[in-house]
Amino acid sequence: MSAIEELPEDWRDLAREAVAARERAYAPYSRFGVGAAALVDDGRVVAGCNVENAAYGVTLCAECGLVGALHLGGGGRLVRFVCVGGPQDAEPHLVMPCGRCRQLLWENGGPGLEVLTPRGVRTMTEVLPDAFGADDLD
Ligand code: THU
Repeated sequence: MSAIEELPEDWRDLAREAVAARERAYAPYSRFGVGAAALVDDGRVVAGCNVENAAYGVTLCAECGLVGALHLGGGGRLVRFVCVGGPQDAEPHLVMPCGRCRQLLWENGGPGLEVLTPRGVRTMTEVLPDAFGADDLD
């Protein structure tokens, strides 16, 4: 990511993890590789890349792999999240998680999870207002 130095200094290492994850993207259909990385509340870093499918709708977003890695590695809560992507022949840029993946992030990070967006750092409350969550099942 050529603009990594333009990101807030305390987010650059995590963004580099996302860029590295994007290098593993399997995106032969969209040619839009995505990498996501997150800091866990115990200090671990988890990451994921998008994995597409000839049956397009079966595609797994990068966040799906990241959440799988979170649980496979022992669980915990996501505290910081960054996602990068773009056409595979271009430098990646920050991308917003899709609507479905915002729900995944809400489940595993909650309202205080910080997300680095193209408009700066936002909390999940800002990224997914009035979210449906576990409390709604009570
Ligand atoms: N994609 C992600 O991996 N995460 C998102 O939050 C947005 C979209 C992927 C899915 C697909 O492989 C490609 O980006 C183009 O939509």
